[in-house]
This record gives sequence, structure tokens and C-alpha cells, in this order.
Amino acid sequence: MTLQETRLLTKRMNDRPADSWTMEAALATGAYETLRTALRMKPADVQEEVKTSGLRGRGGAGFPTGTKWSFLPAGLYPRYLVVNADEGEPSTFKDRELMERDPHQLIEGVAISAYAIESNTAFIYVRGEMAHAHDVLERALADARAQGFLGQNILGSGYDLDIVLHRGAGAYICGEETALLESLEGRRGMPRIRPPFPAIAGLYAKPTVVNNVETMATVPHIVGMGGAEYAKLGVNRSTGTRIFSLSGHVNRPGNYEVELGATFRDLIDDLGGGVTNGGTVKFFIPGGASSQWLVNEHLDVPLDMDEVGKLGVMLGSGAVMVFDQDTDPLAVAWRLVKFFAHESCGKCTPCREGTGWEEKILYRILHGQGRPSDLDLLLDIGDNISPGLNAPFSQTTICPLGPSSVSPIVSLNKYFRDDIIARCTPSLVTMLTGNGLAGNGLDGGLHR
Ligand SMILES: Cc1cc2nc3c(=O)[nH]c(=O)nc-3n(C[C@H](O)[C@H](O)[C@H](O)COP(=O)(O)O)c2cc1C
Repeated sequence: MTLQETRLLTKRMNDRPADSWTMEAALATGAYETLRTALRMKPADVQEEVKTSGLRGRGGAGFPTGTKWSFLPAGLYPRYLVVNADEGEPSTFKDRELMERDPHQLIEGVAISAYAIESNTAFIYVRGEMAHAHDVLERALADARAQGFLGQNILGSGYDLDIVLHRGAGAYICGEETALLESLEGRRGMPRIRPPFPAIAGLYAKPTVVNNVETMATVPHIVGMGGAEYAKLGVNRSTGTRIFSLSGHVNRPGNYEVELGATFRDLIDDLGGGVTNGGTVKFFIPGGASSQWLVNEHLDVPLDMDEVGKLGVMLGSGAVMVFDQDTDPLAVAWRLVKFFAHESCGKCTPCREGTGWEEKILYRILHGQGRPSDLDLLLDIGDNISPGLNAPFSQTTICPLGPSSVSPIVSLNKYFRDDIIARCTPSLVTMLTGNGLAGNGLDGGLHR
């Protein structure tokens, strides 16, 4: 059967494409009705619905949302809700669409979630480059305040909430939740050592929950239909729908909301219109640049967080990048690693130094000047950042950014090792001219 989208979070923008972002369209399509319902419930009961739904965070790690909320220590106030709208993972573009095209769904989700965790102040940290999303949200927040959905005594319930909109400055690391909190407090965005975890001492050292935009936008649907009903959607421990940002060599790239449990093939062929120019999939990245890769033979793997986890990869941020038969995996790996090297904040030595070394070695192999030992050297560096090469799930660093840079390398080794080794044989030009990269800084100080 052909896969169709299941529209919960994307329904309003689909039904009212011209004005889905306005208060008028939102009210005409039921926005804030669930907030009214939630405010009549006890906060603990709202939390319970979210727990029952099985919702897992859509930001990357897939941690159960209700469980995360329950880590807040009882009786400790104030506590904060921080929405991670940084969306820096390469090829991920779902949160931006959710903010630009349906800001009231997000605001309603934030209001219900803040009520559930008994917080009176929430923050939305928007990536600096997303100027339009910021402006749409700013307007929507003002409209929500004017309608009494935010502010003092919301809808006569006695509950107060304000939402502070904060613009980041466009650093990938500021999507990592503790670096985000540092940045929000006005400091340089660098990850914090845990413990303490944000639930105990987060923003301004107060108990804090950090959740992704899509996670928040899902909450009104869960409370609206009931957690148990929501849990019927999806498969196993991957309940509900997710929005996948599909990109690369597909005929119809874009955001697609599907019930979890469909396969990568369904997503790529049925919704993405198949590979461009009638080509075939050589490899694909299943969950954002941080994930290890899969190849053609994995196309029938289900979109199920635990099933993909068994293959050492992740659904991560929900970004699926497709590469056809003519793609050079080495070029892709180099480009991805260059990104991580550029975005390393420099706090941890293995990441600060290692990502730069990886990038330079990949660059010289790509330019025909690799050395026979280069792939093993890359794996050795990788093992020092992500022990056991289990990237991005093991680390010698504070956060998983460094380990993420190891994912493309492990993937090259797993699926394309012979090709890479063949390309590491010195060319005649290299032999005649010596190491063409030495002296121009590209040997990175390695193997002098
Ligand atoms: C380097 C790095 C970048 C990240 N960027 C984002 C991001 O842009 N958006 C996001 O929601 N989570 C991002 N995360 C994950 C967050 O740290 C955190 O797990 C997430 O916001 C929690 O929300 P959730 O439980 O709703 O998924 C990033 C993590 C790392 C290590």
C-alpha cells in the first residue's frame, strides 16, 4: 500500500496554506481549545497523559518526554521550560516550518507543558538565522497575550505564564541543551558537565526542562485525544507521528509527517517520489548528520527508534538524506566532518583537535594524496573521541558533537573501506612531488 501522510502537526498548515500562521486561522481550526481543557485538569494528570502517550523527544536523543518532566524535584520553584528551537542539525528543517506556519500550535503546546510542570516562565530559543520564524513567533506571542492565552490568570484559571522569545546567534553547539542554557544566560555557548542535569539545576541554576519544538507541538494533540489514543499511533516504543525532513537525491524533497513504523523505502519512494533521474540509493543518512549511515540493503528497515538503534544508527532529528549511485561517499564524509570541525566549541581537547585532524586527512585522501595508513589513522582518532567507535553514543567529550564527527568515518569504513583504501595509494604525482600537502598546513601536523 502506498504510504500517505498522517497529519496531526501539519494539519492546519495543510488545510489553510495561505494563512495558517494567523490567530484567525488558528481559532477557526480549534487552537487553544485543548489549553482550556488542560487548565481544568490537575498538572499531574496532564503529565500522566504525556507519559501514557509514550511520546519521545523529537530533538535527537528520543528520551521519553513524560519521564523527563518527572525528574523535576518536588516542591522546588521557580522552574523553567526551555524550548529548543535552534534546529542546527544539517538537513533538518521541520521545526522552522512548524514555527513559521503554525506558531499557535507551538505556543499552545508550550502553555500546556509549562502548566503540566508547574512553570510560570517559558523560553523559546530560536536559531539566529531563522529571522522569519522569530518574527512570526513574536507576532503570534503578542496575539496570544492579547487573547488571554498567555499572561496573568489565563482563561480565568488562576494560572500565569509568560513566554520569553530569545534569538541565538547561529552556533550549532547552542542546540546542545546545556550550551543553550549557557547562551540563554548570556555566556558563551559551551556544554556543561553533568551532573547536575538541567532537571535539577538548569537555567539560572533552577530546575529546567528542555524540549524540542516538534515535541512541544505534539503535546496539544496528545492531551486533546488522550495519551492512550495517541499511543495507538506508531509502532512499539515509537509512538505517534514524526515529521521527516527528506532531502538529497529525491524527486520531492520536503517535510513529511508520517506514522512511525513505515519504512525508509516508503518515505523515499511514496512521499519523496523516488530517487532523481530514475537512479538508485547508494547510501542514506537516517537521522541527521550526527548519525551513522545506512545503505541500499537497509531501505526496508522501519522508522522505529529502537529498530534503527539495533543497527548502530539513529532517527535523531528526523532528517533523512538520500545519496544516489553516483555520489562519492568520501566527499560527503569530508563535507560533514568539515562542518563538525568548524562547529566544535573547543572546550574538550579530543573534539577540538580531533575533528580538525579528521577533516584534513579526509581532504588529502579526497584530493588523491592519501597515505595507505590514513583510514586506520582516522579510525584511531575516532576511537579517541568515541571509544569503541560507537559514535555518536560513546564519548571522551562533554557532549556528542565530537563523536558525531566520527559517524561518517565509521560509515566509510563499514561500507566503502576497499574503495577508500584504494584511493589512499599514493599517485605518481604525489610520489614525484613528495607530499603535496605538507607545508601548506593540510597535513595537520600529523606524521611529520
Ligand atoms: C551538538 C548538539 C546539537 C543539538 N542541536 C539540537 C537542536 O538544534 N534542536 C534540538 O531540539 N535538539 C538539539 N540537540 C539535542 C538537545 O541537546 C536535547 O536533547 C533536546 O533539545 C531535548 O529535547 P527533546 O527531549 O524534546 O528531544 C542537540 C544536541 C547536540 C549534542
